[in-house]
Amino acid sequence: MALHETRGVRARDAATDVFASALSGQVLPKHRMPDDHSPSEVVRELLHNELLLDGNAAQNLATFCTTWSDDGVRRLMAECLDKNMIDKDEYPQTAEIEARCVNILADLWNAPTSTTAATGCSTTGSSEAAMLGGLALKWRWRERRRAAGLPADRPNLVCGPVQVCWEKFARYFDVELRQVPLESGATGLRPHQLAAYVDENTIGVVAILGVTYTCDYEPVAEIAAALDRIQAEQGWDVPVHVDAASGGFVAPFLHPDVVWDFRLPRVASVNTSGHKYGLAPLGVGWIVWRTADLLPADLVFDVDYLGGDMPTFALNFSRPGGQVIAQYYLFLRLGRGGYRRVQRACADTARHLAGEVAAMGPFTLLYDGEGALPAVCYTLTDPAAAGFSLYDLSDRLRMRGWQVPSYPLPADRGDTVVQRVLIRHGVTRDQIALLAEDMRRAVAHLEAAPRPAPATEARSGFHH
Ligand SMILES: Cc1ncc(COP(=O)(O)O)c(C=O)c1O
Repeated sequence: MALHETRGVRARDAATDVFASALSGQVLPKHRMPDDHSPSEVVRELLHNELLLDGNAAQNLATFCTTWSDDGVRRLMAECLDKNMIDKDEYPQTAEIEARCVNILADLWNAPTSTTAATGCSTTGSSEAAMLGGLALKWRWRERRRAAGLPADRPNLVCGPVQVCWEKFARYFDVELRQVPLESGATGLRPHQLAAYVDENTIGVVAILGVTYTCDYEPVAEIAAALDRIQAEQGWDVPVHVDAASGGFVAPFLHPDVVWDFRLPRVASVNTSGHKYGLAPLGVGWIVWRTADLLPADLVFDVDYLGGDMPTFALNFSRPGGQVIAQYYLFLRLGRGGYRRVQRACADTARHLAGEVAAMGPFTLLYDGEGALPAVCYTLTDPAAAGFSLYDLSDRLRMRGWQVPSYPLPADRGDTVVQRVLIRHGVTRDQIALLAEDMRRAVAHLEAAPRPAPATEARSGFHH
């Protein structure tokens, strides 16, 4: 029968038990919209139940993204459901709060403009922020080349093992991506590698504060110094964009002595994900430029049809405002001390897990949670002799609900498979003790059991 044939059925449905309703007695439509409406409480409950098939976000140790929010965030998110970030004339206070967040980040990252209005904006995440940062680099390089009467048709961007957003930027915006291979024993780009990749067509170098694959920081200050030397020798003035998707909210609190931000004159722009260690709910990233002149004016559009005259530089137009408000709430609610305590707790838990993993026997730590992101990254010491692969271990842990990804390292190190556990706000010491116990049990089981077919080796893991 059609979902609801008559008003009478619908009326009875609303009054009856959710699981005795007409809708709950059917398979839900998957290809065609129903002919008529249904009671919201029935539909909601059915969808709620379907969503239980998703993984449990709190056990997702593959993601850097926020999986826990306090009640204040939840209330503000609900209140801001109808606020459109782009509509700065209708929602001037939301726009004002976005500008305050940009100022706060510029100050946190030691921008020279930190006492005046900083240049930057919110985005949907680090990926969009990276696109904007990359575009500004490309535009400025092209202006310089044209002004000098030189060809400007073959831009390249130099980087180490970047997240896929930079591969997207390069392909979408027609820039050659020169990805420097990972050296043996390295967790990211090493400064001495740059000279072989940078040339007059390099629009910039991306340095990563918190490499997605290994969780370690790339040495931004040394990368900037290597570019100083290249400039002295070759005359090419190559700016640095720091992809601080995760580290932008960790380093200022846990590693204030690591010089990676606008304290380095060569750092032109920085992006971060508000929805990672910024602790905001999913859907917000940030980009800040060192000074206003580094964002070329012809990338900024003036929009007047929403009322007022609004400058905008973004890939999206409409976008929810709640995440930005929640970010500001978190800045006020936690302050620097609160962020420091949250990140410290995560780092301590990561160190604890690193000790547990090291003591299990078959693993070698690649990153032990010290000095960069609150995370642990390890590999099998002797994959051939282990009797199991890290993919097998991921599968076993998944049986208990844990999502612990296994994946090959990028570029030249693709033969090394690693496993990574991310510790973020809401992942407790007790949870990690339970995970360690499950890991020990899984390893014992896999060592005792015959090795499964090698087809599983070829799977690629996922990483945010
Ligand atoms: C270094 C780095 N850059 C960019 C991104 C993309 O960030 P987002 O998911 O906020 O778009 C990630 C995601 O994990 C990342 O680790």
